[in-house]
Amino acid sequence: MNPFEYRAGELCCENVRVADIAERFGTPVWIYSKAKLLHELQSVRAAFSAVDPVICYSVKANSNLSILKLLNEAGSSFDVVSGGELFRVKRAGADTTRVVFAGVGKTDAEIRQGLEDNILMFNVESEAELDAISAVAQSMNRVAPVAMRLNPDIDGKTHAKTTTGKKGNKFGMDIERHNELAAKVLADPHLELRGIHMHIGSPIMTTDPYLQAAKKATDVVRELRSRGHKTNWINLGGGFGLSYRGNEAPPASEYARVIVPLVQEAGCRLALEPGRSIVGNACVLISQVIYTKREGGKLFVIQDAAMNDLVRPAMYDAFHRLWPVQPRVTPPTDYEAESIPGCETTDIVGPVCESSDYLAQKRAFPPVNRGELICTFSAGAYGMAMSSNYNSRPRAAEILVDGDSVSVIRERETYEDLVRSELTD
Ligand code: LLP
Repeated sequence: MNPFEYRAGELCCENVRVADIAERFGTPVWIYSKAKLLHELQSVRAAFSAVDPVICYSVKANSNLSILKLLNEAGSSFDVVSGGELFRVKRAGADTTRVVFAGVGKTDAEIRQGLEDNILMFNVESEAELDAISAVAQSMNRVAPVAMRLNPDIDGKTHAKTTTGKKGNKFGMDIERHNELAAKVLADPHLELRGIHMHIGSPIMTTDPYLQAAKKATDVVRELRSRGHKTNWINLGGGFGLSYRGNEAPPASEYARVIVPLVQEAGCRLALEPGRSIVGNACVLISQVIYTKREGGKLFVIQDAAMNDLVRPAMYDAFHRLWPVQPRVTPPTDYEAESIPGCETTDIVGPVCESSDYLAQKRAFPPVNRGELICTFSAGAYGMAMSSNYNSRPRAAEILVDGDSVSVIRERETYEDLVRSELTD
């Protein structure tokens, strides 16, 4: 399902012309398709329906309240990594008894909040954290539900900055420590071991790492049960692939095919924490060409979306498809092709004062003039969520499209917003 299609020579989102939205709300602007967002959630749910999973949408990927509300109403739960994210999901109306709380550095205040909200479980990353959770639970006369995060030492073959399941990453613990801590939990009246947690990395474009992870998880659960734990949950984290280029990511059903039988066999409940795969292709970033410039033998298109809006190309060398909204050249099937008829090799850059401020480098791109609109695709995950005010640039507006209807789900920031929390006297 692709809600962002070229119709009659220009890009539309569902039934709305993207150019109309840009004209009405200005640029840069994020445009979301409600249908796509809900479709992706439903695909994961349907793929794993045999084990009735708790799908904890990973709030870090995109934390806009309206997005959270839509997902909540559609039956999603949430994976949070901070008190701020917990606050957001409550605002969105979430049932916190199905929320999981992850992150390597939970503070006592965050732990207390999680306990007050009766969350499903804390994903525990270290012995020090386990001790802190126990102490806070004791002070509240409570029993804290925990799942230890196992570092499975599996190579997810992702970017060095987004791999998490290999030995030497700051995340999780090895199996020996896991077993030691499990014994500690058993002896602690303020802790209950509810399950095991793993997250291999993001994005994982093949299913084999999940097969390996699920095998490890089910082995660990059997072992824990044999030692007297009532462990019932397997949480395999997020990381499902996203098609940034075409259709390269496996569908949710492929991941389910390797995971579901193992979970069934172990008689466990399954939790998943997908973020990117739910929201990534439900949103585009629309920008406007400010200037074009030829210098040093290169052609630069300088447009008004920058690394403060979408940092992924600068930070991870991430690839996003880009194409004009009203193009003079038909969109290609291969956006990475070195040459495309009618196109020229172009760097598409933003106005921020950094050489790494680009959305694409050395791209075959059609000619564009000042004022023309450009679409950056697959921008919904870790786009707005990682944006900043660098160079004192107000953050862009977010717009939700539902069929013919268009609504603002985040207003464009103003210059006043930029200085609101700063004190001068
Ligand atoms: N669960 C845990 C424990 C995680 O660390 C993450 C992502 C997720 C779930 C969600 O993963 P997803 O389904 O979205 O792949 N900013 C980077 C990605 C960082 C991912 C961090 N952890 C990017 O833009 O590629």
